[in-house]
Amino acid sequence: MLLTDELKQAAAEKALELVQDGMLVGLGTGSTARYFTEGVGRLVAGGMKVRAVPSSRATAELAAELGIPIVTELIGMIDLAVDGADEVDPALNLIKGRGGAMVREKLVAAASRRFVVVVDESKLVRQLGAGVLPVEVLPFLWRSTAERLAELGLSLVVRGGEETPFITDNGNLILDVTVEGGIKNPASLGVELKKITGVVEHGLFVGMTDTVIVAGPDGPKAIGRSSSS
Ligand code: 5RP
Repeated sequence: MLLTDELKQAAAEKALELVQDGMLVGLGTGSTARYFTEGVGRLVAGGMKVRAVPSSRATAELAAELGIPIVTELIGMIDLAVDGADEVDPALNLIKGRGGAMVREKLVAAASRRFVVVVDESKLVRQLGAGVLPVEVLPFLWRSTAERLAELGLSLVVRGGEETPFITDNGNLILDVTVEGGIKNPASLGVELKKITGVVEHGLFVGMTDTVIVAGPDGPKAIGRSSSS
């Protein structure tokens, strides 16, 4: 296994310690979250009563294969959601969605009492925007939506290219946006993006994270709110 994969697994395994009998758990998407889902599968196989809300079709398929009971109609709150991230800043704001699942991931995180992010240390950044910011848009008149984004001074590409675009689980396109000089104010950029008709959701997760479990060569470490339990 590559070292990065070992770190991802270590972070996910640490998050598994937070899972308790009877919990409704939100399952993230991506290679780090996959380790967590596999761990939940082991807990269920061992007799723990856990149900899950998956944040993508891929995760739903994996959860079903592992015998994890799936909830699709949520009433009330999810107890604990665990997901990966592409970038994490010192305030625990995130960029997510380079795996293309951020709309459902954000819905799951927003519906959770506790949102825990699992990453290897390469995901920690001083300022968000080192890489692209994914923005999910409706395919209908998407060029108009892209023009509004360009008016904000953002440059963008259609994920997968215009000939063979990547289509999300929600049937939409992703525009991968580059913010020159990085994202100085993630909260205000998030608000500006949401004002644009045609934007379904963006990959900025501001003020949503309770705990980040970051794995480095010295092992996994929890930072943020509720990091002691
Ligand atoms: C998917 C995501 C992923 O959580 C993010 O891309 C991190 O993925 P990985 O754990 O594979 O590095 O936001 O939409």
